[in-house]
Amino acid sequence: MRKKVTVVGAGQVGSTTAMRIAEKELADVVLIDIIDGVPLGKALDIYEAGSIEQHDCKVFGCTDQYDDARDSDIVIITAGVARKPGMSRDDLLATNMGIMRSVAKEVARVAPDSIVIVVSNPLDAMCHVAYEVTGFSKNRVMGMAGVLDSARFAAFIAMELDVSVENIQTFVLGGHGDTMVPLPRFSTVAGIPIPELLPPERIEALVDRTRKAGAEIVELLKTGSAYYAPSSAAVEMAEAILKDKKKILPCSVYLQGEYGISDLFVGVPAKLGGHGVEKIIEVKLTEEEMAALHNSALSVKKLVDDMKRLQG
Ligand code: 2OP
Repeated sequence: MRKKVTVVGAGQVGSTTAMRIAEKELADVVLIDIIDGVPLGKALDIYEAGSIEQHDCKVFGCTDQYDDARDSDIVIITAGVARKPGMSRDDLLATNMGIMRSVAKEVARVAPDSIVIVVSNPLDAMCHVAYEVTGFSKNRVMGMAGVLDSARFAAFIAMELDVSVENIQTFVLGGHGDTMVPLPRFSTVAGIPIPELLPPERIEALVDRTRKAGAEIVELLKTGSAYYAPSSAAVEMAEAILKDKKKILPCSVYLQGEYGISDLFVGVPAKLGGHGVEKIIEVKLTEEEMAALHNSALSVKKLVDDMKRLQG
């Protein structure tokens, strides 16, 4: 039986995600957007590449017609506005909260057994909306951020040391914002922790670039935000679930006491498999690392409180 993934939002992130899923032959794909024609055109275009790329996945597009997403195994939500130069992810809160509410309602209606991966920003707050509105259990709602932030940290370490990026494992905790917490102590090159390979000031510069990496791309593109790396990250999570890989990936998950944080979505390492988030991995942090994680969680909490105020 073929697997089915619905991608909501046919913008750059959504359509690239759909393309990567098809090219990896992970599942048939349904691409949904409110803009007339665009999801159908992009889906057809991706499908037409199939005979060249040698993939056999069906790719459908539909305009605001959620019934086509019925019985999806996974729904990846990318819908929402992207930031422009000078904006933070948090500036998108009010607009994207409304979009997320209406999408999540439809997802719960047509695909009540699906696993939801949120990509829309501000990420951790949007996970909260999806979790509340779908009413899904906490293992079936998660956000894509840590995989992306870790990939960016790895790319910067590879550039700095002029080594293969494939040698690098990195570890980023916290919310997907300026307060995220890249952890050098747990970031390695061929198993060697980076503090053994780089002086503290260079590590700090790479950590700082990682925190601002999304904004760096926004400043360069001027008309939108990153999509190649974000789509790769979302698809790595989807693949871990579809193939029941039990892969440990940093994801935004609903914490209930882990790391001393409760009732908030925050990025931590989690085991992803066929049931979604199968385990949250708790590692022992230093006092300083824990304080940075709690500071990041606090900025997520502020957004969640702002949403409550916006809803009256
Ligand atoms: C980024 O960091 C869009 O949040 C995404 O590029």
